[in-house]
Amino acid sequence: MSNQKFYKIVTYGCQMNVHESEKIAGALTELGYISCEDMEQADIIVFNTCCIRENAENHAFGNIGMLKKLKAANRDLIIAVGGCLTQQAGKAENLHEKFPYVDIIFGTHNLHRLKDYILLKQNRKKAVIEIEDDEGYVFEGENPVRTSYPNAWVNITYGCNNFCSYCIVPFVRGRERSRRSENIIAEVKGLLDAGYKEITLLGQNVNSYGNGSDDLTFPQLLERIANLDGKFRLRFMTSHPKDFSENLAKVISENEKICHCVHLPVQSGSDAVLKAMNRKYTAGDYLEKISCLKKYVPDCAVTTDLIVGFPGETEEDFEATLNLVKLVNYSSAFTFVYSKREGTVAAKMPGQIPEEVSKQRIMRIVELVNSLTREHTKDYVGKTVEILCEGYDDKKGMYLGRDCYGRMGYFKSETNMIGEFVNIKVNKANGVSLIGERI
Ligand code: SAH
Ligand code: SF4
Ligand code: F3S
Repeated sequence: MSNQKFYKIVTYGCQMNVHESEKIAGALTELGYISCEDMEQADIIVFNTCCIRENAENHAFGNIGMLKKLKAANRDLIIAVGGCLTQQAGKAENLHEKFPYVDIIFGTHNLHRLKDYILLKQNRKKAVIEIEDDEGYVFEGENPVRTSYPNAWVNITYGCNNFCSYCIVPFVRGRERSRRSENIIAEVKGLLDAGYKEITLLGQNVNSYGNGSDDLTFPQLLERIANLDGKFRLRFMTSHPKDFSENLAKVISENEKICHCVHLPVQSGSDAVLKAMNRKYTAGDYLEKISCLKKYVPDCAVTTDLIVGFPGETEEDFEATLNLVKLVNYSSAFTFVYSKREGTVAAKMPGQIPEEVSKQRIMRIVELVNSLTREHTKDYVGKTVEILCEGYDDKKGMYLGRDCYGRMGYFKSETNMIGEFVNIKVNKANGVSLIGERI
């Protein structure tokens, strides 16, 4: 019987967190652990949490609660909880009280020290609870264990300065800071050399990359990366509309490796709500940015995030959002019911919307978004698209991947196509995805 030790990481939240879990996996690998599927088999379980909405938080709390039995059965099991939830004021103490069997609690600013905490815990009984304040530190030299081949995530900025009035992120991720462009470019080069075919640049607001420094601007950084050798796709997320520039639209149009697919969260179509959200643009400003983008990149797919039920949102405000969604004709959108986050400005606003009203509104907007998405998908039938194959669906017995607009396509193949660019002729639109055949 070998004494191999296993880890299991449970991730909640955004792509940023998905990539951070890859970094956690890197640290655990350096300590000699290897990955496993089942919690029962694990010697260490790490929860990488999210607190963007109440349900994300409840979900994590529920799952941590279920580990009590496992811990009772295996006293050597190490349970660690980190991420945005633990970074919230008072939450680490709260977690420790509620779940005294959790061994390690760490925040977003000291993720890179998890290795030290594990070693510390192995030598003592008491829980290790370490939450640091934002020191504006940009950590380099991590060795993530990547799990999304042929795509690779690359951080370009950390934190956020925007303080949208509903949002907890600036409180749990600290102030915006950018990595040096030479480090980013070196990382991307390494990934391309290692065979990755798609690079997704990550930041809460990539458009303000390099702000206030002598480094490159975001469009310049994109251009430099797009000029690297080899066939690959370049994506980025997320863009704040207020910082989306004509220059960026131009760079997208001039570099074929940059995907014609931009995620530009609008949140609401009502000027009054946008103002209360502290988004710093009007619906008119937003539509102008979309026209500018379409002028340079006419075929660009645009996706968005929408919040319904923000405090004070009237039926007219909500209808303004529906109208904007129709006008932009999004190829898809994430829709959320506003969730009150303690400590944010909106949490204290009058006019919190009753749950029943929000429920009605989310149903209406989901229906609209789905109908637009279905129409976009139908337009594909009969066309040929280039898919970057990223996996195999056992149930369908087909390979799958996305085209450069972000649409998922399925096709059959006798040989393993993962990591290959494949041309498929689309025979059928299946809800939000495409079914095609290799040509
Ligand atoms: N930095 C990104 C978004 C990060 S959070 C940006 O600004 O675009 C992802 C999405 O979650 C947001 O775009 C918003 O639509 C949603 N969101 C954030 N806080 C929320 C809250 N309190 N309630 C509901 N949805 C929220
Ligand atoms: Fe939150 Fe706004 Fe920052 Fe996005 S830009 S993370 S929504 S505060
Ligand atoms: Fe992401 Fe959730 Fe944190 S959305 S930044 S993991 S609060």
